[in-house]
This record gives sequence, structure tokens and C-alpha cells, in this order.
Amino acid sequence: MTATIDYTARVENEMDLKMPSRSVNEGFARAAVAAFCAQLNPTAVELADLKCAVSEAVTNCIVHAYRDGIGEIRLNVKLCEGRIVQVEIRDRGCGIPDIKKAREPLFTTDAAGERSGMGFTVMESFCDAVRVQSRPGRGTTVVLLKRLHP
Ligand SMILES: Nc1ncnc2c1ncn2[C@@H]1O[C@H](COP(=O)(O)OP(=O)(O)O)[C@@H](O)[C@H]1O
Ligand SMILES: [Mg+2]
Repeated sequence: MTATIDYTARVENEMDLKMPSRSVNEGFARAAVAAFCAQLNPTAVELADLKCAVSEAVTNCIVHAYRDGIGEIRLNVKLCEGRIVQVEIRDRGCGIPDIKKAREPLFTTDAAGERSGMGFTVMESFCDAVRVQSRPGRGTTVVLLKRLHP
């Protein structure tokens, strides 16, 4: 996490996608973000980091937000002045009652033991900033910010 990201940076290009929370769309979302960001000539490492972070956020929509069914996932990507990539992942699922707790390493509500509880930690380590807004019963928005090499 750094404090150097300019949240008001001018948007130079933008795209929106919406998709149902089917597990096959995790790979699609990751590839779509990478394809859109390719115009900034990111390094292979930057691209891999972004894809990994997007994958964690979209997986959370699939397995947690809509745990009992299928719902809509919205993806917005903004390419901003200063080579800042902003990816917003939004669901209208169950929401997160305690965001601070959810962001702690190893915290998971998965009872089946299939999840590591490291999703938010991965997002934080691969991005420059991660913002989470959520309302129980209304849904969750995760914003990933990453500044690419100059
Ligand atoms: N989009 C979401 N909707 C509802 N709950 C979420 C969402 N994203 C994360 N969570 C909650 O935050 C917890 C931590 O998420 P994460 O760090 O990705 O770990 P994991 O997915 O392995 O449990 C999840 O177990 C879940 O309770
Ligand atoms: Mg997760």
C-alpha cells in the first residue's frame, strides 16, 4: 500500500463489462482486464500481478457474494493519467459485515476448508491500493489501484 496514488487522476480510457457469477467468468474477467491494459505496455510482472488481484476479487463474488446462486458481477476498468490502472469489481450479493476482519490474513468464512483466507492479502500485495465498500444484504465494491512503470 502506498499513499502516492492520485485518486483524482484524469481518466484517459475506460471499459465496462457485466457477467453472471459463473466460475468460468473468473478466467474471462482476468483475461479481459489484461487485454484492455495491454495498450499501456505493462511489464509481464505488472500484468501477472493485476490478473492475480482481479482473479481474487472476482472469485470472491462467485464463491462468497452469490454463494447460494448466480448474480451479476460488474467490472469497470479505468486507465488514468500517470499510468494508473483502476479496476472496480462490484456485486449485489450478501455483503461483508466486518470489512476490517475480512481483510485480515487467513480470515475466511468458508466452512468447507477450500479457501485460504488470503484473497484480500494477495490483492493488497499485488496492487498499490485496495479499497473495499460493502453493505450487508446489498453487495460489495472492491477497487484495485495499480501504477504501472513510467
Ligand atoms: N464480494 C464478497 N461478498 C461477500 N463476502 C466477501 C466478498 N469478498 C470477500 N468476502 C468475505 O471476506 C472473507 C475473506 O476473503 P478472502 O481474503 O478473499 O479469503 P477467502 O476467499 O479465501 O475466504 C471471505 O471469506 C468472505 O467472508
Ligand atoms: Mg477469496
